[in-house]
Amino acid sequence: MTMTASKSQMKNKSLAAVDTPSLLLDLDALRENINTMSSFFAMRRCRLRPHFKSHKCTRIARLQMEAGAVGITCAKLGEAEVVAAAGIRDILIANEIVGPLKIGRLVALCTAADPMVAVDCADNVQMLSAHAAAAGVVIRVLVEVDIGMGRCGVAPGQAAVELASLVARLPGLKFEGLQGYEGHCVDLRDAGERLKQTRAALELLVSTRRLIEQSGIDVRIVSGGGTGTCDINGNTEGIDEVQAGSYATMDWYYADIRPEFRQAMSILTTVVSRPKPQIAIIDVGRKGIGAEWGPPRLKNQNVGRVIGFTSEEHMTIELFGPSDLKVGDRMEIIPSHGCTTSNLYREFVVHQKGQILETWPIEGSGKLQ
Ligand SMILES: Cc1ncc(COP(=O)(O)O)c(C=O)c1O
Repeated sequence: MTMTASKSQMKNKSLAAVDTPSLLLDLDALRENINTMSSFFAMRRCRLRPHFKSHKCTRIARLQMEAGAVGITCAKLGEAEVVAAAGIRDILIANEIVGPLKIGRLVALCTAADPMVAVDCADNVQMLSAHAAAAGVVIRVLVEVDIGMGRCGVAPGQAAVELASLVARLPGLKFEGLQGYEGHCVDLRDAGERLKQTRAALELLVSTRRLIEQSGIDVRIVSGGGTGTCDINGNTEGIDEVQAGSYATMDWYYADIRPEFRQAMSILTTVVSRPKPQIAIIDVGRKGIGAEWGPPRLKNQNVGRVIGFTSEEHMTIELFGPSDLKVGDRMEIIPSHGCTTSNLYREFVVHQKGQILETWPIEGSGKLQ
């Protein structure tokens, strides 16, 4: 990649050369996470289709493809456009693409890539078909089944069979299979409970698959799962693909239940004030760290903890014990959730053993449409 003058001056320097707040990416930890996950799937029939929404960076997506991923999952059409521009063709948009504006873009994307979308409503299926047939393209479709999360998706069983048969009959569409995301299970803290509830959810998905197959329709792909449930999905007969994303860069919320993956993402910050002996204020707040799973943690949790996380550009740290931390010193912070954090930055500063290697653009950042 090309670096601006100041960025090329950062290369091979220590992290002291990076201005703050910056989003850091530990290359060794990233590679290890990608390798850990791909090794698990290399020994199974089930394949990995990593979720782009977690890092939104095509350099990482390419590493995941090189490690054996079958394709990439995206949350948004705008993300899929970015992934296609990076030369990756097999893309699942794991959400419904609704309305003529978006469907027009989806049809256009079919020339650069081979996208697959989720559907859960007959009207949307009819509109997808009409646009695809008029443009002479074929859109691949997964019928989304609600397997307990209570978000999108038709009910398991007959409703899914009927929608699948509509997709299979209409021109311009190719019925590929089912999607079911057990979002109510992926972060259950208790491993036994996670296993029990995930198995129950996947049973709804696999039994729906069997019903569709019995009706004479071929089901090529059943896709679901996240970082917290990737192993359960990977070991379930009838699940073909897993959409895990967070495992690549991780965050502290997932690290608590998936210790086999390393913390690759962190935010480098500067201490800007020391108003009291036990208090340090750093230069990042809610505008620079995803917050929906709670406040961030210090990378070195022995030093202190976050006690104030309501400001846009500041965070309050309580320091444990006597501390000689000074204004200007640096601190690394781990977000509770990586997906919403990467969306706030334009680039990762990629480092290895404390040396800056390069910056990787986060091309999917802000792609909400
Ligand atoms: C449809 C879908 N698939 C998969 C995932 C899994 O992502 P993660 O690996 O972060 O659990 C998500 C996360 O929100 C999702 O919405």
